[in-house]
Amino acid sequence: MKVLVVGSGGREHALCWKLRQSPLIDELYCAPGNPGISQVADIVPIPSDEIHHLASFATDLKIDLTVVGPELPLTLGIVDDFTNRGLTIFGPKKQAAELEGSKVFSKEFMRRHDIPTARFEIAHDLDAARRIAAHFGLPVVLKADGLASGKGVLIPKTEEELEAGFKTFFEDRRFGSAGERVVIEECLVGEEISFIAFSDGERILPLATSKDYKRLKDGDLGPNTGGMGCHSPAGVLKSGAASEILDRIVRPTIQGMSDENRQFVGVLYVGLMLTADGPRVLEYNVRLGDPEAQVLMARMENDLLPVLLSGAHGRFDTSRLHFRKEAAACVVLASQGYPEKPTKGEAILGLEQAGNVEGVEIFHAATALKDGALVAAGGRVLNVCATGPQLRDALKRAYVAANCIRWPSKIFRQDIGRQVLERNAS
Ligand code: AMP
Ligand code: GLY
Repeated sequence: MKVLVVGSGGREHALCWKLRQSPLIDELYCAPGNPGISQVADIVPIPSDEIHHLASFATDLKIDLTVVGPELPLTLGIVDDFTNRGLTIFGPKKQAAELEGSKVFSKEFMRRHDIPTARFEIAHDLDAARRIAAHFGLPVVLKADGLASGKGVLIPKTEEELEAGFKTFFEDRRFGSAGERVVIEECLVGEEISFIAFSDGERILPLATSKDYKRLKDGDLGPNTGGMGCHSPAGVLKSGAASEILDRIVRPTIQGMSDENRQFVGVLYVGLMLTADGPRVLEYNVRLGDPEAQVLMARMENDLLPVLLSGAHGRFDTSRLHFRKEAAACVVLASQGYPEKPTKGEAILGLEQAGNVEGVEIFHAATALKDGALVAAGGRVLNVCATGPQLRDALKRAYVAANCIRWPSKIFRQDIGRQVLERNAS
């Protein structure tokens, strides 16, 4: 079979690595890919938002299945375009991708379907925003409506921060049209986890749980990022909690989308806060998490290809996904300046040594080749992933390998999984 993966990050590297293991694979392509991905797939130099170009490529090469990593092509309608051309693709159509593409849509959807989430109101202008924020009190959460690369959420704790936040949205218009409508919601307190499931539009196949560390710095400090590390299992769910999340949140979401004629096929990623009153949805994503995909692919036992293919045809041919008992962990190596303005162009050393650590797999994100040398080419550069019998083993291996890799501006969190380990030990 011929498969095309769309995207160029660590998530897509992990997807290609996993798909390459399928006995059903004849040809594997990735557009636009990265130097790490080129070790397991043929690179196609088409950017992931050039939908027509990608569709022509898939038609010409008679691609049997396309798998989309990032949200942008999904919200732009890549699945609609491919489907109209008779191509098989696993992902939500544009109308279903609104669950991630518009926070206003997703919050109102949850209200319509009684799916537990933070209380919220929507502000169209500064006066309304001030009034609503005063109603919730501080800290309060401000969210841009549209896609903002994970940077569209502000959580002001003081009046000064609140005014600065309003200025960002309504005066500076930092989020452009994505910030024309602002969701203002209560600030929830609790443990954050990611719950990810595949859906064929009706049936749901939950993946293993995972926990992502979104803040840049140790101790969950600093700005939000795309994710600085993660592990699977999440290690923080009490027994019965996963089925509560499925019954109260994931099933009603898939059912609600179907009832609204926005049938959801693809990956549903629910960002959750485990509050004292139960799980609450923070956000929906319509794709695999990055770096969650890296640890989930490392643990998945099923052959991914037939699962995604049957999902794309609206008929899962397996009733369950199976995950190895082993744990998996991922430490993201980024470049100084991330997430605002990462340093670029420095040569990366020590990869081979890192790759030799037991259980370790390194997935590339923003790397490039310059004069034959591998260089850091963006914010999140490499994902050092490891499996191990227990979470502590996986983390230990990932950190041993992470320390082998060098470039001058390398930064990474030292505390991925630490709190979970400490809590589970006590
Ligand atoms: P989102 O893009 O909506 O997931 O927001 C990004 C991050 O902001 C989340 O991962 C949380 O850490 C935080 N966040 C979002 N909404 C809330 C909320 N209502 N209460 C507390 N933290 C939140
Ligand atoms: N790791 C968070 C995300 O993919 O959105």
